[in-house]
Amino acid sequence: MGNLIILGSQWGDEGKGKLVDLLADQFDFIVRFQGGNNAGHTILIGDRKFVLKLIPSGILRPGKIAVIGNGLVIDPVALFAEIDQLSAAGVDAQARLRISSRAHILVPAHRAMEKRLAIGTTLRGIGPCYEDKAGRRGIRVADLIDSEHFVEHFDALAREHEATFKAFEIERDYDLDEVRAQYLELGARIKPMVCETALLLNRAIRDGKTVLFEGAQATMLDLDHGTYPFVTSSSASAGGACTGSGVAPTLIDGILGVAKAYITRVGGGPFPTEMLGAEGEEIRRRGNEFGSVTGRPRRCGWFDAPLLRYTAAINNFDSLVITKLDVLDHLDRIPVCTEYREGARVLSEMPAVCSTLGGIDPVYECLPGWQTDTSQVKTWDGLPPAARAYVDFLEKQCDVEVGCISMGPERNQTIIKPGSNFQRLTS
Ligand code: IMP
Repeated sequence: MGNLIILGSQWGDEGKGKLVDLLADQFDFIVRFQGGNNAGHTILIGDRKFVLKLIPSGILRPGKIAVIGNGLVIDPVALFAEIDQLSAAGVDAQARLRISSRAHILVPAHRAMEKRLAIGTTLRGIGPCYEDKAGRRGIRVADLIDSEHFVEHFDALAREHEATFKAFEIERDYDLDEVRAQYLELGARIKPMVCETALLLNRAIRDGKTVLFEGAQATMLDLDHGTYPFVTSSSASAGGACTGSGVAPTLIDGILGVAKAYITRVGGGPFPTEMLGAEGEEIRRRGNEFGSVTGRPRRCGWFDAPLLRYTAAINNFDSLVITKLDVLDHLDRIPVCTEYREGARVLSEMPAVCSTLGGIDPVYECLPGWQTDTSQVKTWDGLPPAARAYVDFLEKQCDVEVGCISMGPERNQTIIKPGSNFQRLTS
């Protein structure tokens, strides 16, 4: 067992939370390295449902240390809402959470500014907060807990924001004095959890402890590699795990990609295999495809192999986890996109320009469905032959091993393929 990264390989919501929760037991630390409370990891344990947005899903495993790395943007109000919700459910989150002093702090102005951006974001202020980070005027956790100088930092940033508000006629929907006082209070509350998490992790690794890196969003939403500008504002692919945690690439032992047996996307942007009619609605209903942060209906589409080949290349996945296979149980035929065409031309690479991706034609190969309930199947051999053939087809098309299959939200609705890289890396 070494240090593993878990990443979304499509447009998010692939079921990373369940996988992290499943594997967390075998690691000492579980680390989030990018994004903020725009993520939504839903985990079902018995009849209890947890939706974690900012805190790593591994917090649900007793005794594990959960780390919010330097790459995140933290809304402290959202953070404590989550901590309090976990405490009420008997999870000692505050005792097991470590927060990087270098992570950035999100303020209500970031949310107000985001309303101008019409790409269907989660409206949590994530993009504007990262803009301030890149603009070198952001407030970091270290500033928040420094009660002597916090007001200085806060007021300087507020002046910048006021100028933007004026220029773009943005209405301020909060009271600045109240926010300042609230953040001072939250700074004192957050302080006991704050440390140099990069050093904490590096020392732990040196001492033989193991780390699980929990990705949020996904590679197609990555600021650099995704469908720009319809992306999030952080590095949601493998490299981001290193920059967002301060752990070097040479200390990573494996990278697991998570993909749904179909594909979904929330928000705007091109989506070649989108199902627009009743078929899409049925998948949305069966897969309960509604955003866990915003409640928005997710757009649903057929599995897109060219997209997966691209994200597998960007991340060099050792193994792929296919989730929600059971959602396809009802179908008598299942199309899979195997290539893109632009007129007569086959596109062998993922286009960098969104209008090209929006204008291409997906080419499908249809596979027979299995029309059998797979939700209770416990072994690879127990799956209907057509379901195995479907998974084998995805594996071949994506040129990456499928080592694990999930057929429902519960921990025990998971099949690990014997002899796979997945098994090797996780046991
Ligand atoms: P932002 O991250 O709120 O800036 O949103 C940018 C894009 O990423 C939008 O299309 C969002 O719908 C999408 N997005 C952000 N977080 C998630 C997520 O956790 N799952 C799926 N899509 C997400």
